[in-house]
Amino acid sequence: MKNDVLTYSSEEETQILSKDLQPEDQEPQFLSLRPTMFSDYVGQDEVTTSLKIAIEAALMREEPLEHVLFHGPPGLGKTTLAHIIANEMGTKLTVTSGPALEKGGDLVGILTHMGEGDVLFVDEIHRTPKAVEEFLYPAMEDFAVDIVFDKGVHARSHRYRLNRFALVGATTRVGLLSAPLRDRFGIFRSLDFYDVNDLVKICKRSAELLDIPIDDKGAVELAQRSRGTPRIANRLLKRVRDFSQVRADGIITKEIVIQALALEGVDEKGLTSLDRRYLQTIINFYKGGPVGIDAIAATLQEESDTLVDVVEPHLLKIGMIIRTPSGRKTAESAKKHLACMEK
Ligand SMILES: Nc1ncnc2c1ncn2[C@@H]1O[C@H](COP(=O)(O)OP(=O)(O)O)[C@@H](O)[C@H]1O
Ligand SMILES: [Mg+2]
Repeated sequence: MKNDVLTYSSEEETQILSKDLQPEDQEPQFLSLRPTMFSDYVGQDEVTTSLKIAIEAALMREEPLEHVLFHGPPGLGKTTLAHIIANEMGTKLTVTSGPALEKGGDLVGILTHMGEGDVLFVDEIHRTPKAVEEFLYPAMEDFAVDIVFDKGVHARSHRYRLNRFALVGATTRVGLLSAPLRDRFGIFRSLDFYDVNDLVKICKRSAELLDIPIDDKGAVELAQRSRGTPRIANRLLKRVRDFSQVRADGIITKEIVIQALALEGVDEKGLTSLDRRYLQTIINFYKGGPVGIDAIAATLQEESDTLVDVVEPHLLKIGMIIRTPSGRKTAESAKKHLACMEK
């Protein structure tokens, strides 16, 4: 249990130990790239504007923030927003995740330690076991947990009052969230992929923090290959930095980005080898589709969850695949792109 929960205060950043968090979250270096206030958070203007209003109103009323649910593909800044909310509210953040909460008792232990107004972040909240979810309902609605002592005829239930906390949930699959849980969030926001301008800003900000020289064209090239995703932009930036230090003069230019990412298998549209294998499978194996996700996953020998969470959202966004009631189909642009890459 201890290993799965971490408490942050606004001043200190404790190391994250949970095995269920993203690998980057565990790297202290990435913690320093993670924006800590809204002023550093690039893009997603509608989301940040409505959050700022909600936070300011809560502070004025001296109330905790309403429960917030973030939805969107991995790496778009959901965890970051949870950190920012706690910082801007000036409260403590406790981090856990749905799969880390195995028993109701795990959650009760965390909840009873929350201070007034503190933020509890539950990552991958759609993977919270049903039995644990039952404890969340009264906690979210009435700030109370019902603990049952003894069994059978001697069973007694005791209602334990909690401090008023704010739950921030993150999910890549809002459809898998049960309706009663979803309905208990006062604020629900979806994060969308970032446009190139925003990613350029993120690349430049990260480069400055890491003390990496990058020119404008280098930043644009990197942004275009980041699949609309800040986490990928940061990861590619580090790979390109290594390359430029070893093979060039350390300055990141467009040419260096092109050469370095060719080695990483990241093409000019930012597609990785898994993206291309996914497209090739539909085109070559299933004649362009429509084909069900499980069939694609089986052919690729990949988890269908990985394909749905990581691969498909971006391919859908850029229109290379289409989802129909009878399965996935590739668009003409996918064929063209692959043909182009083979040349
Ligand atoms: N809006 C943003 N501005 C700047 N950097 C961002 C932004 N969103 C995300 N990042 C960077 O991307 C990384 C991944 O974001 P994270 O919040 O962990 O994504 P998620 O929880 O949605 O998977 C963060 O460590 C941060 O450095
Ligand atoms: Mg996250």
